[in-house]
Amino acid sequence: MSATITKAIFPVGGLGTRFLPATKSMPKEMLPIVDKPLIQYAVEEAAEAGITEFIFVTGRGKAAIEDHFDHSTEIEDILKQRGKENGLNAVRAMMKTPGSVAYIRQQEPAGLGHAIWCARHYINNEPVAVLLADDLIKPATGGNGCLKQMVEAWQDRGGNMVAAMEVPKQQTSSYGIITPGASFGTSDGTLTEVKGLVEKPEPADAPSRLAIVGRYILEPGVFDELEKMERGAGGEIQITDSLARRIGHVPFFSHQFTGTRFDCGSKLGFLQANISYALSRPDLAADLETWLKGVDL
Ligand code: UTP
Repeated sequence: MSATITKAIFPVGGLGTRFLPATKSMPKEMLPIVDKPLIQYAVEEAAEAGITEFIFVTGRGKAAIEDHFDHSTEIEDILKQRGKENGLNAVRAMMKTPGSVAYIRQQEPAGLGHAIWCARHYINNEPVAVLLADDLIKPATGGNGCLKQMVEAWQDRGGNMVAAMEVPKQQTSSYGIITPGASFGTSDGTLTEVKGLVEKPEPADAPSRLAIVGRYILEPGVFDELEKMERGAGGEIQITDSLARRIGHVPFFSHQFTGTRFDCGSKLGFLQANISYALSRPDLAADLETWLKGVDL
């Protein structure tokens, strides 16, 4: 095993306008899939991949995320008094080592690249993972999480890496799309050399159907590019633009992972994720399946 990645950035500064009014006073990342908020799935995926330092880039109205990862002595005391061991263990198990969680405020939602750049002082010239909590990636049964798969692939290759999946042609304008080079299989996916990147191209202009989804491993040179603060698609500072400018300087691969990705920033993806995760839960699956089969739509 070569280098390791110990830090992850969780950009949670977006406005979540597609989920209004639910997100008027509640962060999108706190929306629950069954009984766990999206952000907790992302943090658990990062921890599984070896991450020990968790950096949240937050914005206005995101205080619930900080509270979620803090002790709630009131809830813990009540659960203890009532002998609710399962609940107590669940809230205690998610606590991180003191000092391993940091919060930085993105003062304006100027784009994903800008959010990542806001975390720069916590990243000392080292590679870092980035996870977007609203892209929920469910591992295959018994399989590793997406970030763990990527870290293992990255340890052989270095440079920059993004998670990717094929999307229908008509959806390319919702994603960063890859100009692919050589591809080869790994134990749990396919690595494809990234020759170019286009942010949200119309289907007719898209170089492929290979789309970036919300997992990244970034080498330090990306932060030098972000520093230039150049605005791209939608007038926002895009991470894809900085990644594209590193092509030719460092290796750059996309990793088509094993697992199922749910776009929980959209209502349909959020509903699908809830049903899929509930159907994988022994305490819910049978009753939900019975109801789904009999439901009068
Ligand atoms: P989205 O494109 O989904 O934007 O951001 P959004 O504002 O969260 O949601 P909608 O489109 O208004 O419904 C993709 C990811 O980048 C983060 C978001 O939190 C989300 O995880 N992001 C985006 C930031 O952290 N800061 C930004 O300025 C923009």
